[in-house]
Amino acid sequence: MSAKTENLTNGDLYSSLLDGNKQFVEDALKLDPEYFEDLAKGQSPPVLWIGCADSRVPANQITNTAPGQIFVHRNIANMVIHSDMNMLSVLDYAVNVLKVKHVIVTGHYGCGGIIAAISNKQFGLIDNWLSHIKDVYRLHAKELDIITDMDERCDRMVEYNVIENVYNLCKTTIVQNAWQNGQPLGVHGWVYSLKTGIITDMKVSAYDNANMESVFRFE
Ligand code: CO
Repeated sequence: MSAKTENLTNGDLYSSLLDGNKQFVEDALKLDPEYFEDLAKGQSPPVLWIGCADSRVPANQITNTAPGQIFVHRNIANMVIHSDMNMLSVLDYAVNVLKVKHVIVTGHYGCGGIIAAISNKQFGLIDNWLSHIKDVYRLHAKELDIITDMDERCDRMVEYNVIENVYNLCKTTIVQNAWQNGQPLGVHGWVYSLKTGIITDMKVSAYDNANMESVFRFE
């Protein structure tokens, strides 16, 4: 083992993760000796979460839920991109196999992806991902351009981005077909505050095609 490798593997942080796992197992078994055996039997989460990859927004902890309750997909800035096979595969499995009742897009104020996207800087490869956020900006440029405080502009943009991605979800053939087949499915948009820990419901929940423009409705 080289000195460099040794330095990495003996690092406090790395080993503390495995120690933390031992503690997690011990604590869980103390409360319920069958905990892992029961979880291993299968999952039937009622919710699909599409959130930001940001380390400060973990789905289970901020909703006070446990393993097994939320099916999770995360990417930079909680995007729903029409051609993203990763997101579509998760959505398809969640809706058609797990039969989740709710899909929730959760953004968060102070999102680094949004801040980067509304700036004029280049960040490399990620700019191609962030350009989807710039597309959202274009739809709301009139309202956003007049906000001079950049933090406030970013916060509004976080909200618009969540709303637009809820709409993107509703346009997918997966959600459209679920609704056509009478499968109960709600699609929702939330924004989480890093500063307070509080989630705000954007109140854009959709349960059918009622608010979809006709061009996006499939028959
Ligand atoms: Co973020």
